[in-house]
Amino acid sequence: MGRCPECGNWGSLVEERPTAGGGRGAGVRGPSASPVPVTEVEGPALARIPTGFPEVDRTLGGGVVPGSVVLIGGDPGIGKSTLLLQVAARLASQGRKVLYVSGEESTEQIRVRAERIDAMSPHLYLAAETLLEAIIEHGERMRPDLLILDSIQTTSAGALESPPGSISQVREVASRLLTLSKERAISTCLIGHVTKEGSFAGPKALEHIVDTVIYFEGEQQHAYRILRVTKNRFGSTHEIGIFEMTEAGLKEVDNPSRIFLAERSQGVTGSAVVVTMEGTRPLLVEIQALIAPTHASFPRRVVTGADLNRVAILLAVLEKRVGMPLSACDVFVNVAGGVRITEPAADLGIVAAVASSLRNAPLDPRMVCFGEVGLTGEIRAVRHAAPRLHEARQFGFARCILPETNEGKPREAGIEAIGLRTVDAMMHVLFP
Ligand code: TYD
Ligand code: MG
Repeated sequence: MGRCPECGNWGSLVEERPTAGGGRGAGVRGPSASPVPVTEVEGPALARIPTGFPEVDRTLGGGVVPGSVVLIGGDPGIGKSTLLLQVAARLASQGRKVLYVSGEESTEQIRVRAERIDAMSPHLYLAAETLLEAIIEHGERMRPDLLILDSIQTTSAGALESPPGSISQVREVASRLLTLSKERAISTCLIGHVTKEGSFAGPKALEHIVDTVIYFEGEQQHAYRILRVTKNRFGSTHEIGIFEMTEAGLKEVDNPSRIFLAERSQGVTGSAVVVTMEGTRPLLVEIQALIAPTHASFPRRVVTGADLNRVAILLAVLEKRVGMPLSACDVFVNVAGGVRITEPAADLGIVAAVASSLRNAPLDPRMVCFGEVGLTGEIRAVRHAAPRLHEARQFGFARCILPETNEGKPREAGIEAIGLRTVDAMMHVLFP
């Protein structure tokens, strides 16, 4: 068929031929065994291998699990190859055997990069290879502790006719490497490029096969990169790792709040600082808003780094509950530093920034806030109030607006905690 009967697109179908042994059925299972009571199943030795990068280890939940398969995705050029070469080098310098297979660069090119980022180690093996069968043979012969495949889209199984990067190829490559990884206890990292739609090119289908899915994100123009876990069979999915791209490769950022606040200009309107949580870590970020009278028939809402729908709700709350004439204004909201905030606890920051810009009044530069805003204009309790307050104090903030309903009424010496119930009440604190 030239046309997909489902979506109506032309030329979108890919031929997939059955192959002996491989294909969809290939998985972790060995010969079938009879069911056993859960109490009698032997627990695996989950000794994790620390990579030597605390940020990577924390993201993975404590290190690489032997025999696990990790898929790491990101835009081309974001630094996936660099990161994994650095991880490879750290492991190799601990005496572990690492095989880095690249279908994108020659071994000479990788060597040049390795020299630049200080990744020269005799235990780090390189191979420029695109044929799956050859890669599996290398793996069988070498039995490395870690195998890195850069990238899944350049690798192809000889038995399949479809081009590399097609759904059937990508799926075949992943499932055969999964089998190798489970049978030989080789930890495997698959690098995948992400398409514009934001899924691993073609195969969103891959995400359920692998143990862990990580995205490496960031703006090309900014130096900061965030490692974010979206699936983890061996740990939490809320952790992130923050890196900075430098001349000598990626560097860990152990004090991210400082960076995200570095360029903050104080005493200007439309800027507020909020304490958000990324995983188990509090993060101070600056939220900026610009409100201007609209000249079009529809007011514009442009949001970067936060959810547009969330901002729309908050604007409606401000309009209805506080009486701000926002429907006659264009609204621009930006989270500084290229961060993306995903939790509702940042609501108060957005509200404060918008109010400050609309009233043309700067906020107290030594004040932070956090809290979720409900539709009736109430400020709702959020989790992890104590560590947020602590982080704020560490950065020298003197006052913090937070939900009054927060349990335990967190207190911290050196910072005034102002518990509030409504957005309206907050306006009186922000603009006395
Ligand atoms: P790369 O790891 O090749 O990206 P990916 O594998 O995700 O496509 O890195 C891409 C960019 O990183 C490249 O444009 C140059 C930059 N870079 C540095 O700034 N410093 C370095 O030390 C290295 C190795 C790369
Ligand atoms: Mg690359």
